[in-house]
Amino acid sequence: MNSAITIKTKPTTRRTSISFNRLTSVEIPSVLSIEEQNSDYPWSQVQFITSIENSKNLCYCRSLNGKTIGYLIAMLAVDTADILNIGIDPDFKRQGYGTGLLNHLIKGLRKSHIGEILLEVRAGNKSAIQFYKKQGFEKISVRKNYYMKDSKNQSQREDGIIMSIRIPSKEIKNVL
Ligand SMILES: CC(C)(COP(=O)(O)OP(=O)(O)OC[C@H]1O[C@@H](n2cnc3c(N)ncnc32)[C@H](O)[C@@H]1OP(=O)(O)O)[C@@H](O)C(=O)NCCC(=O)NCCS
Repeated sequence: MNSAITIKTKPTTRRTSISFNRLTSVEIPSVLSIEEQNSDYPWSQVQFITSIENSKNLCYCRSLNGKTIGYLIAMLAVDTADILNIGIDPDFKRQGYGTGLLNHLIKGLRKSHIGEILLEVRAGNKSAIQFYKKQGFEKISVRKNYYMKDSKNQSQREDGIIMSIRIPSKEIKNVL
């Protein structure tokens, strides 16, 4: 006789876990990998370590199901904050995670009574400029020929665009 046993199992629900954490040396290898995929001029390990060790900096990373998918580093001045670096894993771009990191920074800055965020971006980094504009940043100044464009040819330069935003009293709309 063929006796089939049916085991009833509870339906499993897969939970997505998204979190913001302080960036530490543990995440640096993942962050370096994202940085190298994103940029022709990636920050070095030393730059990340120096940043996380500087008490004037706010350094966050974003994790999805335990995997580091983004980071943001900002330096606090008296009443402004400068975004020094932000990056999202290429597989997770255009899904709101960059906006989420910025929102997280803004929440932290509101508590510190900082009223403005400044940043500088390469003129050729059109996607980042679009991203910042979408968040409400405005161009306030240009640093002519500030960046080297080609490490082999020092005469190839590109402008730095300085952008700023007054910290909005309400959060930027973001579901993540
Ligand atoms: C810039 C960056 C952080 C944006 O992160 P992200 O998670 O992809 O951004 P979001 O999904 O939150 O995007 C929010 C909005 O910004 C704009 N935006 C983002 N990326 C864009 C792109 N490549 N082109 C045009 N607009 C873009 C869009 O309006 C987008 O909204 P939409 O997707 O509904 O159209 C990410 O592209 C990145 O890591 N870039 C490489 C590193 C870098 O250049 N850092 C900045 C150094 S100054």
